[in-house]
Amino acid sequence: MSDVLSGLKRPDDPNLIVGFDTSDDAGVYKISSEIAMINTVDFITPPVDDPYWFGQIAAANSISDVYSMGGKPITALNVVMFPSKVLPMTLLKEILRGANDKVVEAGALIIGGHSVEDDEPKFGLSVNGVIHPDKVITNSNCKSGDSIVLTKRLGSGVLFNALRAGKISFDFMEKNVLNSLARLNDKAIATALKFDLHACTDVTGFGIAGHALEMSEGSQQKIRLFFSKLPFYEGSREMYKKGVTTLSNGANRRLSKDKLVYKIRLSESEEELLFDPQTSGGLLLSLPTNQAEILVKELSDAGVQSAIVGETYEMGTGIEIT
Ligand code: CO
Ligand code: CO
Ligand code: CO
Repeated sequence: MSDVLSGLKRPDDPNLIVGFDTSDDAGVYKISSEIAMINTVDFITPPVDDPYWFGQIAAANSISDVYSMGGKPITALNVVMFPSKVLPMTLLKEILRGANDKVVEAGALIIGGHSVEDDEPKFGLSVNGVIHPDKVITNSNCKSGDSIVLTKRLGSGVLFNALRAGKISFDFMEKNVLNSLARLNDKAIATALKFDLHACTDVTGFGIAGHALEMSEGSQQKIRLFFSKLPFYEGSREMYKKGVTTLSNGANRRLSKDKLVYKIRLSESEEELLFDPQTSGGLLLSLPTNQAEILVKELSDAGVQSAIVGETYEMGTGIEIT
C-alpha cells in the first residue's frame, strides 16, 4: 500500500494522530480530548478450506490492528467477496459465524458489512476501535535500550502452502497452528500496556524482518534480532528445507535488501523463515530492557507464550541478525 500512497500528501488535519505515512497498523483520528477513533480494514483469501476456521482467523487478523495501536475494538463490518453461484451459502454462513464468534470474544459488535461476487472467496473485517488520544501506541517509537518481545510463533505462511501441496495434514495444522492464529491479541496487549510500552505492531504479511524494519525506520533505531530466540511453528523450517515457499518470500526479501545484515551464518531455509508471511501473527512489543523479562513472565501467567527476540542497539535504520 505504501508505494501507491507515496504520491499522496498526508492530510493536513491537526486531529489526525496516525495517517498512512508511517505504515502503521491502523489510522487514528482524535474526536475529543478524551477519545480518538481507530480505523482499519483487512481481508484475506482462505488460509484453509474449513470456513469456520477461515472466519475466525480472518477476524482475529483484522481486529489485531486495533490492539496493536493499544486500542479497544468497538464495532466491525464484514467485508465479503464470495462466488455465490458456485459455492453453497452454508460456507459463507460458517465464515461469518467464525468471525462473529471472534468479534464477540473481543467485546465488540458486528453492525453490518458489504459483499460482492468474486471468483474466489475473500473475507475480512473493517474494525473500528477507540483509545485515549494521548495513549496511542505506534510502530515508530522504539527507544534506545529497548528489548523486542514477540507473542506468537512464526512460520505459518509456509505451512499453509505445505498443506495445499499435501506435504502436511489438516490435522497437523489444527493441532499446531490454527488455534494460535485464531487467538486474539487482546491479552497480549492488555498485559503489555501495564509496562512502559514504547512501540508495537503485529507481524503479518511482511514477516518478522519486514515488520521489524518498519519499526526501525519509524523509530530511527536499528534493531538486532536474535535468530536462536525466534520461535517457529513445528515443521516450518523443515518445509523450507524441502523447497516449499510462499509467493511473498521473494518480495519480502527484496523489501529489506541492503537494510538487513547477517552477523551469523544462516542456511537458505533459515533465512527464508525471516521473510515468511504471517496471517494473524503475534505482537512485536518494544519496551525498556529491564522490564522485558517481567513482561514475558506476566504474559505467560495470562496464557500467552512469548519470547525476547531482539533489541535496539544504535540510531539509524536497519536490522541485524545475530
Ligand atoms: Co498490522
Ligand atoms: Co492489517
Ligand atoms: Co501499531
